[in-house]
Amino acid sequence: MAKDVIIALDFPSREEVFSFLEPFEPPVFVKVGMELFYREGGSIVKELKERGYKVFLDLKLHDIPNTVKSAMANLLDYNPDMVDVHIAGGSHMIEEVSNLINKQEKKPILLGITMLTSTSEERMHKELKIDKSLSLEDTVLSYVEMGLEAGLTGIVCSPLEVPKLKEVFPNLVTVTPGIRMEIVEGDDQERVVTPKRARELGSDYIVVGRPITKAKNPVEAYEKIKKEFLEG
Ligand code: C5P
Repeated sequence: MAKDVIIALDFPSREEVFSFLEPFEPPVFVKVGMELFYREGGSIVKELKERGYKVFLDLKLHDIPNTVKSAMANLLDYNPDMVDVHIAGGSHMIEEVSNLINKQEKKPILLGITMLTSTSEERMHKELKIDKSLSLEDTVLSYVEMGLEAGLTGIVCSPLEVPKLKEVFPNLVTVTPGIRMEIVEGDDQERVVTPKRARELGSDYIVVGRPITKAKNPVEAYEKIKKEFLEG
């Protein structure tokens, strides 16, 4: 299974993205999320791809099956390497997207979002009305099972969830944010791990934002993280 480091391009504009990327040699894998996409539109993805970058287009689609299928058809025109949908959208929605992707000559990896990390077990029971007999972990496992049956290739999850998920679904591709070079109390990412630890836990791709984008020397930070993640 491929392993790589994906840089989260959490910048507000195209100018900042390309000034940040200037010293990097493509093909680096990058992530475009809602903030950047809703500002710059598809042209940012198109431009990144034309310059040789690999792109995870992280827009977490969630709507009725027909709408998500049509929206994804538009996104596929930009030729992303990885896309995602909310598993909560249901099996029919995921199947529509998966069938569409399977018809493409170049198929992006289709990921599912299980439970957002901002949703605690307590909120999951209280607000989403998930049966109280189901733990957060049980719920994530059943979401993944349904998502895989409907055609997902992988999921976005915490590195700490990877061992359990791989035990049950060995072929699942896992993409994991929450990476830090050092573990510091009070980080806004709860449950963070180092690249080395993510490797030991079995993550396939790590998503790294600020430890690279805010580093004094981003290329050096990227190389260090990549080495730690790929070689230990
Ligand atoms: O800067 P940092 O390394 O924390 O960035 C992590 C990236 O991963 C951000 O783009 C963030 O939105 C994304 N992400 C996350 N936690 C999740 C899902 C996505 O941090 N559960």
